[in-house]
Amino acid sequence: MSTIMRIAALTTVVLISCATTGADEAEPKGRIGSGERLYRAHCTLCHGGDGKLGLNGSKDLTLSVLTRAQMIEQVSNGKGAMAAYRHVLTAKEIEAVVDYTRSLGKAR
Ligand code: HEC
Repeated sequence: MSTIMRIAALTTVVLISCATTGADEAEPKGRIGSGERLYRAHCTLCHGGDGKLGLNGSKDLTLSVLTRAQMIEQVSNGKGAMAAYRHVLTAKEIEAVVDYTRSLGKAR
């Protein structure tokens, strides 16, 4: 094997291990991730980083008048264009992401 090929093979191994580590970071399923990390992974697409994006008919989360329990219910079971997250996140993770979501409103 030439030196070039050895370097290429080694680089591939390093890249694969980096990619695997990255996937673990982004997919905290089954572990309790921070609410912010979960929000950034699952909610910014429609709600935006600050909760105000309102894409696909989603509400401005900073103006929401829902209680914590109502938010947990809606995130768990979904509504309209928003998917049910009980299949994606654990109950603890849904609580964490809802608490983070609520903190966006208070920061207003
Ligand atoms: C595919 C787009 C989409 C994604 C992704 C999404 N949502 Fe929503 N969300 C919506 C839509 C649409 C509504 C409005 C539903 C309705 O009332 O018909 C909504 C409404 C809500 C509400 C209720 C606001 C109110 O006052 O009525 C909360 C809370 C909420 N989303 C939280 C979240 C959280 C937390 C996540 C991430 C776990 C998330 N959403 C991901 C589209 C999305």
